[in-house]
Parts: sequence; structure tokens; C-alpha cells
Amino acid sequence: MSTLSVENLTIRRGGKTVVDNVSFTLETGRITALIGPNGAGKSSLVLALAGVLPLEAGSVELDGVPLAGQAPEFIRANGLAAVPEGHRVLTVLSVDDNLRAAGFGLPMAEMEESVADVYSIFPELAERKGQKAGSMSGGQQQMLALGQALVARPKFILADEMSLGLAPLIVKRLMNVVSDLAERGTGVLLIEQFTNVALKLGHEVHVMTRGHFSYSGDPLPLVEDASILHKYYLS
Ligand SMILES: Nc1ncnc2c1ncn2[C@@H]1O[C@H](COP(=O)(O)OP(=O)(O)OP(=O)(O)O)[C@@H](O)[C@H]1O
Ligand SMILES: [Mg+2]
Repeated sequence: MSTLSVENLTIRRGGKTVVDNVSFTLETGRITALIGPNGAGKSSLVLALAGVLPLEAGSVELDGVPLAGQAPEFIRANGLAAVPEGHRVLTVLSVDDNLRAAGFGLPMAEMEESVADVYSIFPELAERKGQKAGSMSGGQQQMLALGQALVARPKFILADEMSLGLAPLIVKRLMNVVSDLAERGTGVLLIEQFTNVALKLGHEVHVMTRGHFSYSGDPLPLVEDASILHKYYLS
């Protein structure tokens, strides 16, 4: 089992503290849901963990390897991959080239294997290898964005609002893949605006409001009584 340990993380953006002294742990094989209102700091947290935004303070360790302050490539190579908000694929490149671009730096044999793995997870993408990513549907592009993260064979995936703007059937498909990944041993931080989806899949949930966690623990009480969830959204 691997552990991603985040301690006392603080992030400042535009002169404002957007994540304030947050601590949590992810474990491989588990889905941790992260929900909360707009502007709570969820995406900022993901970007900072991925090395794209600077940290003001705090430590991030994956099995004892310090990741805080490291370059995004280092963080990725050490087992942490993010799927940022808004499926950012290279629209003019083919599906296959998008996956290969994401695997840049991997030894050739490993890259071939990883790309083949992604195609077995998403036959939808295998059927469209040569198609320009920008010509695919939003759902297919989101599969590709997740596929790009998977090429690195991460121990941990941070998935930010994958379901945004997608039809319920596609959301279901993506969430099934997330469940399968966790069952096969990946650790997942699942950020979702569909709180029912996140609470159903999450083994644990953090509710984030204004840069801090107002609730951390068992999703069940929040599923059973929406007024409790509402209360933590406001606190
Ligand atoms: N590029 C930026 N520069 C400065 N401040 C930003 C920037 N992007 C976001 N913020 C601020 O950071 C805070 C946290 O935003 P963030 O996008 O992390 O929240 P979120 O929880 O992901 O929200 P949402 O549910 O809308 O995606 C907000 O106050 C937001 O205004
Ligand atoms: Mg966000």
C-alpha cells in the first residue's frame, strides 16, 4: 500500500489565502471524495499538489518522498497524476499522439504498454486512435484526459470535475472506470459537483468551504440527511 500524505497545506492566489492549513491522507485502492461550493479551493489544491501552483506552506509526501515544491514532471514520475478541470487535451493532435505526448520521457516499451492499457480501459479511444482529439465529443475528450493521466501509471489520481457538462450516461461510464481503477489499486481524489456521485463512490469524504475542511469522514451521514450536507457547505 502507498500513502500520499498532505500536511498543513496553505496556498495563496492573487494575494488571498485560498487553501488554509489543510491536512489529509490518500491511500492506494481508496477513493476519497472532495466536494464543496464554488471557489472553495478544490481546484487550487489539485493544481498545487500537481506542482503547477506554488505552495505557501505545508508538506506533501508520497511514501516518504517529498513532492512539495518539485516540478510537475518529477511529481508525475513519482506516482501522482492530475486530471485538471476542463479536459485539456491537445485538440489538433490525434488521440494516439495525445497519449504518447503524455507518456513523453517513458522508456519506449513502457510507453507502448501504458498506451495499450489505456486503450483496453477505453475501447472508445482505441476506435478513434487517428482522430483529432478536438473533433471528439466532450465525453470522449474527458476519457482522453483521464487516459493521459493514466499513461504515467500513477499510484494516485486527482480527478477534478470530470463530469462537468457531460451527459449522465457518460458520467456513469467515467465513474465506473474510476471504481475499477481503485479496485485495481490506484488511489483517487475525486472532485465532483454531483455530490451524490462523489458520496456514493467515496470511501471517505472531505467537504471544503472557503479553503478549509468543514467535514472529513464517512460519507454516509451526508447521504442520509441532505440538511447535514447543506450545513457543512455553509460552515
Ligand atoms: N487564476 C487565479 N488567480 C487568482 N485567484 C484565483 C484564480 N483562480 C481561482 N482563484 C481564486 O481561488 C479561490 C479558489 O478557487 P478554486 O478554483 O480553487 O475553487 P474550486 O473549489 O475549484 O471552485 P469550483 O467548484 O468553482 O471549481 C477562489 O476564491 C478563486 O476566486
Ligand atoms: Mg474547481
